[in-house]
Amino acid sequence: MRNQKVDKHNDKETLTRKLRAAALAVGLALGAGLAHAHGDVTPQAVDVSTLPKLGEDWREVNPYRDNTEAIRIGDSAYNQNCARCHGLGAVSGGIAPDLRKLDIAPETDEYFLQRIRNGVSRNGAVYMPPFEGMLSQEAMWAIKAWLETVREK
Ligand code: HEC
Repeated sequence: MRNQKVDKHNDKETLTRKLRAAALAVGLALGAGLAHAHGDVTPQAVDVSTLPKLGEDWREVNPYRDNTEAIRIGDSAYNQNCARCHGLGAVSGGIAPDLRKLDIAPETDEYFLQRIRNGVSRNGAVYMPPFEGMLSQEAMWAIKAWLETVREK
């Protein structure tokens, strides 16, 4: 009786794992295919040493809005980390949302950060990987500052 239960549980886990592996494989294949057209696949470290430090606490509003240095860094950080899905120059090819459409507003800043930090997964499939731990808060806001310069309604 006890063993049966355990087996059932294992079956379910194996299935979930298989599905997850399949989703990952598709994601990797997609990523690899796009890499040729849209830049690097592995997340790239971003040098933010020339920007004012933001500390440990997560900001709710973009501290680098209109900061020329942040915009310069954000442009390159975007191309290295986001362009392969969201398109070069943030011109979406339809794979992922067009980030030029993001509003410049406190609610959007909060939403933006939440998305980058956590990524987007549904039913075990990763639509967008989480960037927390790979990109610093400084790099995330720099990307937002750059996106604001290419904004389109
Ligand atoms: C592997 C592909 C991939 C990468 C890399 C990626 N994204 Fe995404 N992103 C997506 C997808 C797909 C969605 C839509 C998810 C959904 O279905 O809700 C998304 C959604 C978003 C959203 C929400 C947009 C909206 O209109 O709701 C933001 C903001 C975002 N991404 C920012 C970024 C930034 C900034 C980077 C780089 C640091 C990045 N993403 C890297 C695939 C990616």
